[in-house]
Amino acid sequence: MVIVYESKTGFTKKYAELLAAKTGLRLYPASELSKVDRAEEVLFLGWMKIGKVQGLKKAEKHNIVAVCGSGTGRTAEPDVETVLARNKLEATPFFYLRGGCLPLKNIRGMDKLALSMFVRMLKARKGADEKTVESIEIIERGFDGVKEENLNPLLAWLNDRPRVIL
Ligand SMILES: Cc1cc2nc3c(=O)[nH]c(=O)nc-3n(C[C@H](O)[C@H](O)[C@H](O)COP(=O)(O)O)c2cc1C
Repeated sequence: MVIVYESKTGFTKKYAELLAAKTGLRLYPASELSKVDRAEEVLFLGWMKIGKVQGLKKAEKHNIVAVCGSGTGRTAEPDVETVLARNKLEATPFFYLRGGCLPLKNIRGMDKLALSMFVRMLKARKGADEKTVESIEIIERGFDGVKEENLNPLLAWLNDRPRVIL
Protein backbone atom coordinates (compact mmCIF):
# COMPACT_ATOMS: atom_id res chain seq x y z
CA MET A 1 0.00 0.00 0.00
CA VAL A 2 1.13 3.52 -0.79
CA ILE A 3 -0.10 7.04 -0.02
CA VAL A 4 -0.93 9.40 -2.91
CA TYR A 5 -1.87 13.02 -2.23
CA GLU A 6 -2.97 16.17 -4.01
CA SER A 7 -2.32 19.40 -2.15
CA LYS A 8 -2.40 22.98 -3.34
CA THR A 9 -1.33 25.00 -0.32
CA GLY A 10 0.37 22.30 1.76
CA PHE A 11 -2.16 21.30 4.44
CA THR A 12 -3.07 17.97 2.84
CA LYS A 13 0.61 17.35 2.20
CA LYS A 14 1.25 17.73 5.94
CA TYR A 15 -1.32 15.03 6.66
CA ALA A 16 0.19 12.79 3.98
CA GLU A 17 3.65 13.21 5.52
CA LEU A 18 2.39 12.57 9.05
CA LEU A 19 0.63 9.45 7.80
CA ALA A 20 3.76 8.23 6.00
CA ALA A 21 5.81 8.76 9.17
CA LYS A 22 3.29 6.85 11.27
CA THR A 23 2.77 3.93 8.89
CA GLY A 24 6.07 3.67 7.01
CA LEU A 25 4.10 3.69 3.73
CA ARG A 26 5.68 5.27 0.66
CA LEU A 27 4.37 8.67 -0.33
CA TYR A 28 3.70 10.09 -3.81
CA PRO A 29 2.24 13.39 -4.99
CA ALA A 30 -0.57 12.73 -7.50
CA SER A 31 1.68 14.23 -10.20
CA GLU A 32 3.90 11.11 -9.80
CA LEU A 33 1.06 8.62 -10.02
CA SER A 34 2.66 6.98 -13.05
CA LYS A 35 5.29 5.56 -10.67
CA VAL A 36 2.60 3.63 -8.80
CA ASP A 37 1.68 0.17 -10.09
CA ARG A 38 -2.05 -0.08 -10.95
CA ALA A 39 -2.39 -3.15 -8.69
CA GLU A 40 -0.88 -1.40 -5.66
CA GLU A 41 -3.34 -0.43 -2.93
CA VAL A 42 -3.62 3.36 -2.69
CA LEU A 43 -4.66 5.54 0.21
CA PHE A 44 -5.65 8.79 -1.49
CA LEU A 45 -5.60 12.20 0.24
CA GLY A 46 -6.83 15.31 -1.55
CA TRP A 47 -7.93 18.85 -0.79
CA MET A 48 -11.57 19.56 -1.46
CA LYS A 49 -13.00 22.18 -3.76
CA ILE A 50 -16.76 22.62 -3.91
CA GLY A 51 -17.15 19.16 -2.43
CA LYS A 52 -14.81 17.49 -4.95
CA VAL A 53 -11.67 15.71 -3.80
CA GLN A 54 -8.99 17.20 -6.03
CA GLY A 55 -6.74 14.81 -7.95
CA LEU A 56 -8.96 11.81 -7.31
CA LYS A 57 -10.07 11.55 -10.93
CA LYS A 58 -6.43 11.16 -12.03
CA ALA A 59 -6.23 8.08 -9.82
CA GLU A 60 -9.50 6.42 -10.84
CA LYS A 61 -7.74 3.57 -12.69
CA HIS A 62 -5.68 2.78 -9.59
CA ASN A 63 -6.57 0.48 -6.73
CA ILE A 64 -7.91 3.06 -4.27
CA VAL A 65 -8.83 1.48 -0.93
CA ALA A 66 -9.71 4.65 1.01
CA VAL A 67 -10.03 8.38 0.38
CA CYS A 68 -9.37 11.30 2.71
CA GLY A 69 -10.69 14.74 1.87
CA SER A 70 -9.27 17.80 3.54
CA GLY A 71 -11.28 20.97 4.03
CA THR A 72 -11.27 23.98 6.34
CA GLY A 73 -14.54 23.38 8.18
CA ARG A 74 -15.16 21.41 11.35
CA THR A 75 -16.88 18.89 9.10
CA ALA A 76 -16.84 18.22 5.36
CA GLU A 77 -18.55 20.95 3.32
CA PRO A 78 -21.20 21.05 1.97
CA ASP A 79 -21.87 17.76 3.92
CA VAL A 80 -20.57 14.18 3.92
CA GLU A 81 -23.45 12.75 1.82
CA THR A 82 -22.86 15.32 -0.94
CA VAL A 83 -19.11 14.70 -0.86
CA LEU A 84 -19.63 10.91 -1.15
CA ALA A 85 -22.05 11.35 -4.06
CA ARG A 86 -19.96 13.98 -5.86
CA ASN A 87 -16.85 11.78 -5.71
CA LYS A 88 -18.64 8.44 -6.28
CA LEU A 89 -17.41 7.13 -2.95
CA GLU A 90 -20.50 5.23 -1.85
CA ALA A 91 -18.50 1.99 -1.75
CA THR A 92 -15.14 3.43 -0.63
CA PRO A 93 -14.21 4.32 2.97
CA PHE A 94 -14.01 8.12 3.32
CA PHE A 95 -12.28 10.07 6.08
CA TYR A 96 -12.56 13.82 6.56
CA LEU A 97 -9.40 15.61 7.69
CA ARG A 98 -9.61 19.20 8.84
CA GLY A 99 -6.90 21.04 6.90
CA GLY A 100 -6.57 24.77 6.66
CA CYS A 101 -6.30 27.75 4.40
CA LEU A 102 -4.10 30.71 3.68
CA PRO A 103 -5.51 34.18 4.42
CA LEU A 104 -7.78 35.25 1.56
CA LYS A 105 -5.41 38.07 0.62
CA ASN A 106 -2.69 35.48 -0.15
CA ILE A 107 -4.86 33.41 -2.49
CA ARG A 108 -4.73 34.12 -6.22
CA GLY A 109 -6.70 33.57 -9.39
CA MET A 110 -9.90 31.57 -9.70
CA ASP A 111 -9.62 30.18 -6.18
CA LYS A 112 -9.65 33.73 -4.78
CA LEU A 113 -12.70 34.57 -6.83
CA ALA A 114 -14.52 31.40 -5.72
CA LEU A 115 -13.67 31.95 -2.05
CA SER A 116 -14.61 35.65 -2.16
CA MET A 117 -18.00 34.72 -3.57
CA PHE A 118 -18.38 32.06 -0.89
CA VAL A 119 -17.60 34.59 1.87
CA ARG A 120 -20.10 37.07 0.42
CA MET A 121 -22.72 34.33 0.42
CA LEU A 122 -21.93 33.40 4.04
CA LYS A 123 -22.09 37.04 5.14
CA ALA A 124 -25.47 37.45 3.47
CA ARG A 125 -26.93 34.63 5.57
CA LYS A 126 -29.49 36.03 7.99
CA GLY A 127 -28.95 35.06 11.65
CA ALA A 128 -25.62 33.39 10.86
CA ASP A 129 -24.84 30.56 13.31
CA GLU A 130 -21.53 30.00 15.12
CA LYS A 131 -20.24 27.67 12.40
CA THR A 132 -20.90 30.24 9.65
CA VAL A 133 -19.19 33.04 11.60
CA GLU A 134 -16.20 30.73 12.17
CA SER A 135 -16.04 29.86 8.46
CA ILE A 136 -15.95 33.55 7.48
CA GLU A 137 -13.16 34.29 9.99
CA ILE A 138 -11.12 31.29 8.88
CA ILE A 139 -11.31 32.19 5.19
CA GLU A 140 -10.47 35.85 5.77
CA ARG A 141 -7.66 35.37 8.31
CA GLY A 142 -6.28 31.97 7.40
CA PHE A 143 -6.22 28.90 9.62
CA ASP A 144 -4.19 25.75 10.29
CA GLY A 145 -6.32 22.89 11.58
CA VAL A 146 -3.83 20.08 10.91
CA LYS A 147 -3.57 17.84 13.96
CA GLU A 148 -1.95 14.44 14.17
CA GLU A 149 -4.88 13.09 16.20
CA ASN A 150 -7.24 13.77 13.26
CA LEU A 151 -5.60 10.77 11.58
CA ASN A 152 -6.75 8.41 14.35
CA PRO A 153 -9.96 7.13 12.68
CA LEU A 154 -7.98 6.35 9.52
CA LEU A 155 -5.19 4.66 11.51
CA ALA A 156 -7.76 2.58 13.41
CA TRP A 157 -9.32 1.51 10.11
CA LEU A 158 -5.87 0.59 8.73
CA ASN A 159 -5.08 -1.42 11.84
CA ASP A 160 -8.30 -3.40 11.50
CA ARG A 161 -7.49 -4.39 7.94
CA PRO A 162 -5.79 -7.74 7.45
CA ARG A 163 -2.33 -7.73 5.79
CA VAL A 164 -1.47 -4.24 6.99
CA ILE A 165 1.31 -4.16 9.52
CA LEU A 166 1.75 -0.87 11.35
C1 LIG B 1 -11.78 27.60 -4.11
C2 LIG B 1 -11.84 26.72 -2.88
C3 LIG B 1 -12.95 25.89 -2.68
C4 LIG B 1 -13.04 25.09 -1.52
N1 LIG B 1 -14.12 24.27 -1.36
C5 LIG B 1 -14.20 23.45 -0.25
C6 LIG B 1 -15.31 22.56 -0.09
O1 LIG B 1 -16.20 22.46 -0.90
N2 LIG B 1 -15.34 21.79 1.02
C7 LIG B 1 -14.38 21.85 1.98
O2 LIG B 1 -14.49 21.15 2.99
N3 LIG B 1 -13.30 22.67 1.83
C8 LIG B 1 -13.19 23.46 0.75
N4 LIG B 1 -12.12 24.31 0.57
C9 LIG B 1 -11.07 24.32 1.60
C10 LIG B 1 -9.82 23.50 1.21
O3 LIG B 1 -10.16 22.25 0.74
C11 LIG B 1 -8.92 23.37 2.44
O4 LIG B 1 -8.47 24.64 2.73
C12 LIG B 1 -7.77 22.36 2.28
O5 LIG B 1 -7.34 21.95 3.56
C13 LIG B 1 -6.59 22.92 1.52
O6 LIG B 1 -5.63 21.90 1.33
P1 LIG B 1 -4.20 22.11 0.65
O7 LIG B 1 -3.45 23.09 1.51
O8 LIG B 1 -3.59 20.77 0.68
O9 LIG B 1 -4.39 22.63 -0.74
C14 LIG B 1 -12.00 25.12 -0.55
C15 LIG B 1 -10.88 25.95 -0.77
C16 LIG B 1 -10.77 26.74 -1.91
C17 LIG B 1 -9.55 27.60 -2.12
